[in-house]
Amino acid sequence: MKHLLKLGDLSREEILGILNLADQLKYERKNNIHKDYLKGKKLGMIFQKSSTRTRVSFEVGMYELGGYALFLSDRDLQIGRGEPVQDTARVLSRYLDGLMIRTFAQSEVEDFAKYGSIPVINALTDYAHPCQVLADLMTIREYKGSFKGLKMCFVGDGNNMANSLMVGALKTGMKFSIACPEGYEPDGALLEWAKGFGDDFEMTTDVKKAAEGADVLYTDVWASMGQEEERALREKAFKGYQINAEVMACAGKDAMVLHCLPAHRGEEITEDVLEAHAREIFDEAENRLHAQKAVMCKLMRD
Ligand code: CP
Ligand code: NVA
Repeated sequence: MKHLLKLGDLSREEILGILNLADQLKYERKNNIHKDYLKGKKLGMIFQKSSTRTRVSFEVGMYELGGYALFLSDRDLQIGRGEPVQDTARVLSRYLDGLMIRTFAQSEVEDFAKYGSIPVINALTDYAHPCQVLADLMTIREYKGSFKGLKMCFVGDGNNMANSLMVGALKTGMKFSIACPEGYEPDGALLEWAKGFGDDFEMTTDVKKAAEGADVLYTDVWASMGQEEERALREKAFKGYQINAEVMACAGKDAMVLHCLPAHRGEEITEDVLEAHAREIFDEAENRLHAQKAVMCKLMRD
């Protein structure tokens, strides 16, 4: 593994290897036996969109591993004034040991990897959010013990989260169902890939049908970063695509609820469901730290 651009690039074994290391790093941190696995290493973090969890967990993670993280906003970088990725990637490769990028187009992250000579980590594009899904998988395994026989249900927009969860769930052996309105389906090529899993994959417009017997319910905002001007339109299109008490009643008895956050209470999830499942949702947020430390160790350790 040279980069983390999307989960589809990773084998099932590579995903499990990251999760195992993340568990180990979490244990070491808790017991104060953490080592400086990335002593002296430097990570650049380019943000072209807002972030709370990703920025803080990468920065703290790098600090805890003995390395250093630089926050690089596109408002300050020349890339924001039109310097091409080809040049930025080659320049930054001369200073840094790794680069984390949050941006719009997936092709930009791919280009950084193509033109640069250091590991590149996708910290969210319009297409994918692999770091989030690694933390999600880690949390599911913590709560459920294994992925075997589990069903994950995603309710809402066929966005970056849906794309990555679909791959993460199916690759680790879970069943995956998605309920989304017509016109808001996940990426077409990924859908074709998912159809190869037969009955383990289901797409419907019916939220309750998708949630039937689910062990993990997941949702995300109706309007992602960059879609702010579509807000009103999307509020109409996604009405009813919500995890609420009625949907929970269709799910399995001990179903857990996950949300990548930030959450919009009263839209994709009700306040009562979010608060009833706050423990797993905030464990999930914490696990961003451990999962990303594992990714950085896999990519940046000598
Ligand atoms: N879930 C997530 O990526 O959060 P941030 O946008 O706050 O980084
Ligand atoms: N789909 C959301 C995820 C935020 C973590 C967005 O892209 O804004």
